[in-house]
Amino acid sequence: NWDMGNYIEKAVADIKEKVGDKEVILGLSGGVDSSVAAVLIHKAIGDQLTCIFVDTGLLRKNEAEKVMETYGKNYNIKIKCVDASERFLGNLKGVTDPEKKRKTIGKDFIEVFNEEKKKLKNAKFLAQGTIYPDVIESQSVKGPSATIKSHHNVGGLPEGMDFELLEPLRELFKDEVRKVGRELGIPDHMIDRHPFPGPGLGIRILGEVTKEKADILREADDIFIKELWNHALYNKVSQAFVVLLPVKSVGVMGDERTYEYTAVLRSADTTDFMTATWSHLPYEFLEKVSNRIINEVKGINRLAYDISSKPPATIEWE
Ligand code: XMP
Repeated sequence: NWDMGNYIEKAVADIKEKVGDKEVILGLSGGVDSSVAAVLIHKAIGDQLTCIFVDTGLLRKNEAEKVMETYGKNYNIKIKCVDASERFLGNLKGVTDPEKKRKTIGKDFIEVFNEEKKKLKNAKFLAQGTIYPDVIESQSVKGPSATIKSHHNVGGLPEGMDFELLEPLRELFKDEVRKVGRELGIPDHMIDRHPFPGPGLGIRILGEVTKEKADILREADDIFIKELWNHALYNKVSQAFVVLLPVKSVGVMGDERTYEYTAVLRSADTTDFMTATWSHLPYEFLEKVSNRIINEVKGINRLAYDISSKPPATIEWE
């Protein structure tokens, strides 16, 4: 068990020594792991670190602004926001298979990073927020999600990337990463965020992904998450989000018949994400969220609550 203050001191020294006068690129997603890695590496090498925030078009509402504000403005970290949404959404056209989506998205990420690397003079390292459980998962004993779903962001450097890896959190468990993050002054609401998958809304829009559907889902998800915060429930559940189904159903709004998408609220309670149960959220809360989403989000007229545990279901729907 590490003392986190000492850990930071040692990590900073190690990073300095390893990097020397080269530059480092880090894919900053805004998730805990990449954020803590960014702040830690920035503490060690300052502007030799360039963070790339990729707008895939599959992000949650206001995500880019939130990340730029927290880490760019408050920490003065060099962050480049790359708007690659047309590339990601373009390549996803016609793709419906979940694994094919992951591969398509993963490939686009690699291309974006390779292109950004070329724009830097002296880039040698790719930093990743790999943590100890990722290391274990990518070795012999594969967890269910590693074998059943191909996470593009675990298991070392993807093929076709010419970098050396820098992974300062490789020895830490998640709770230790959070401790380091707090020690580094990262605000609680960023540290306690639920995990968000690399492929983002791409695997929460079932069937074909389009910008129209992503826009609808972003609005619904934003309402769900904000209401969880408002009701002091966000930190009680492990991961919560909305899924958009490729199913339309009939509804009625005023005097009009509607024919719109069905969405699903998903909230899971878990400690290790290998097994999970569905959150027993209060009915009044669910009712409030349902009323808000159906009334406020154009494109959704029906909402269901997912009451499946993992296994046999998974947390995500794809
Ligand atoms: P499942 O759906 O397998 O998810 O029960 C377990 C945890 O893994 C996350 N997840 C992913 N994370 N890329 C990621 O970075 C992925 O492709 C991916 N698929 C699932 C999921 O959000 C949950 O936290």
